Amino acid sequence: MKALILAGGAGTRLRPITHTRAKQLVPVANKPILFYGIEAMVAAGITEIGVIVGDTRAEVMQALGDGTSFGAAFTYIPQEDPLGLAHCVLIAREFLADDDFVMYLGDNLLEQNLAAFVAAFETARASGEPPVAQILLKQVPDPHRFGIATLDSAGNVVELVEKPDDPPSDLALVGVYLFTARIHDAVAGIRPSERGELEITDAIQWLLDQGERVRCELLTGWWIDTGKLTPLLEANRLLLEKIETNIEGSVDQASTIEGRVIVGQGAEIINSTIRGPVAIGAGTRVEDSFIGPFSAVGSRCVVHHSEVEHSVIMDDSSIVDIARLEDSLIGSNALVQRSRQKPRALRLMVGDHCQIDVE
Ligand code: G1P
Repeated sequence: MKALILAGGAGTRLRPITHTRAKQLVPVANKPILFYGIEAMVAAGITEIGVIVGDTRAEVMQALGDGTSFGAAFTYIPQEDPLGLAHCVLIAREFLADDDFVMYLGDNLLEQNLAAFVAAFETARASGEPPVAQILLKQVPDPHRFGIATLDSAGNVVELVEKPDDPPSDLALVGVYLFTARIHDAVAGIRPSERGELEITDAIQWLLDQGERVRCELLTGWWIDTGKLTPLLEANRLLLEKIETNIEGSVDQASTIEGRVIVGQGAEIINSTIRGPVAIGAGTRVEDSFIGPFSAVGSRCVVHHSEVEHSVIMDDSSIVDIARLEDSLIGSNALVQRSRQKPRALRLMVGDHCQIDVE
């Protein structure tokens, strides 16, 4: 089994961060989103991975390398224009050959591991009525934002529709799919949708229309499509829930660490309170500050005389004299500072290399 991971999308809903960074490389719990998907594949024993890259290819390729550091081998496949998820399958034809593969949207995060999902497909493939594809479904409160499935009374998939105005169910297609080579006939057989893209949802519907069996599984753990600020912070929260305390940096006598906290190598906590779950990257200095639950502060940052909670702060940024920063996403190399103290909470999305002076 091979894998195809999609790391090309533009990430318009996470601007300004994505003006300067691939959305799949935004960190949650101090690790790029994309790394979680790749690690899940390797854990499921899938090491031949095709990576679809777009405009941000240089950055993605630099972050991922050739795959050795993940125990995998990457083949980069450039997509010149964002022509849809099924188009990604089309351009990956040579890499995929006739093998079965997992397709994984690089901005999706799943709690459950991939291995069980892959094993279930392989077992079903060996049965009397082998499915040609397998999808994962999850109940969502906002079905018009996703591909949506209709099941019959026996739980079989009968119809799929992409982002319907009038959703027939609340079962969304999770961005992790398993395909056999039959999908290549499907992607060749469909036409672009109204938004001008070759939709993978339409390709799977094409399989159903040909009388093929598409297996589905209902996801029980959490699933997040991280493309926007609120889900991104939620993913950060859910992943921080799972960390274990690991203090490699220094914590002075005047500081308090509560709950599960990671303090990276060379980081310094001075006269501060850190209330976990919190991750603090290597070489970061936290002084006269409070870092509250569900915060991830990157490497080489400075948090001085400030309160931070439920936020992601990327590498090399500084937060200085901020009474309270919450529910925020701060890019890398950014400076957020205020000249006078006012007890007011700030909620910010700050791009890389920005300076925000709060009066
Ligand atoms: C894509 C798919 C959609 C699926 C979603 C999952 O949507 O088209 O069917 O439910 O991913 O994240 P997009 O993120 O491209 O809008």
